[in-house]
Amino acid sequence: MRVGIIGATGWLGSALGAQLLGRGMVRPSDLVLANRSGPRADYHGHADVVWASDTDDLVVASDVVVVSVRPQDWPALRLHAPGRLVVSFMAGVSLDQLAACGGRIVRAMPNAAAEIGRSYSPWMAGPAVTDQDRATVAWLLSAIGTEDELADERQIALMTAVPGSGAAYPALMAVALADFLRGEGVADAIAWRAAEAVVCDGGQLLQGRIADAPALVAAYLDYAGTTAAGIDAARAAGFDASIRRAMQAATDAAIRMAAGSDEG
Ligand SMILES: NC(=O)c1ccc[n+]([C@@H]2O[C@H](COP(=O)([O-])OP(=O)(O)OC[C@H]3O[C@@H](n4cnc5c(N)ncnc54)[C@H](OP(=O)(O)O)[C@@H]3O)[C@@H](O)[C@H]2O)c1
Repeated sequence: MRVGIIGATGWLGSALGAQLLGRGMVRPSDLVLANRSGPRADYHGHADVVWASDTDDLVVASDVVVVSVRPQDWPALRLHAPGRLVVSFMAGVSLDQLAACGGRIVRAMPNAAAEIGRSYSPWMAGPAVTDQDRATVAWLLSAIGTEDELADERQIALMTAVPGSGAAYPALMAVALADFLRGEGVADAIAWRAAEAVVCDGGQLLQGRIADAPALVAAYLDYAGTTAAGIDAARAAGFDASIRRAMQAATDAAIRMAAGSDEG
């Protein structure tokens, strides 16, 4: 399988390239790369990857073409990929807009945890995509984590808001927790370690059993201790509503972008 990545030195494209090579899923000579700033002498420890001279060259040399440029760079790319499987990572570029390239289109929504092979990447297939293509997409996305096929394009906008945000909300939570402690006079390093204990280590308790989260919240509330006092205060201050509002705003932004009314 020859994999082409347009945007191979960006955040996500680079993560995909690194994982495909690191896991031995693609030989360096079967990894075809393109970016804006030009070839690198070393790509994740490999000098023998293939740098395409332009996107037409990349399409010809690839069985599957991954598009990982920013949404605002899509129109200028003028991708022409008739007969190719094209997997777009772009938020807010619809199947209809992508169809102009002439390929068999899949929209996937990975996140920044691709960097550590822990992205959850839901995806949806356009009309011409075959069962063989579906197997290729599942294989490709397994390089950066787990995946599910969705049946409805609107759900891609929802996934842009939720898993697509990656570490953004854990980071926001960490900043708020550390700021509270620092505001109370706790030393910086200790404040950050305490925030890490909540966001990273506490979060690990739910790894593989996230559907137990409501029961875990209920257990803290039943305990009726200090954490219950905190949860009650957070909810009274609009914690759940603010998360819903954030997810709705991000979903709406993705839908607006896909409708072509917003470039950013
Ligand atoms: N980052 C995330 O967490 C995340 C999550 C979900 C979805 N996405 C989506 O994934 C896509 C990529 O995001 P990113 O964060 O990886 O972006 P990024 O870090 O800005 O990388 C963009 C890449 O596109 C390349 N590029 C731009 N114009 C090009 C052109 N005309 N021809 C070839 N290459 C071109 C850039 O090349 P240079 O390196 O040479 O500048 C760079 O490698 C975006 O559409 C975004 O919506 C990202």
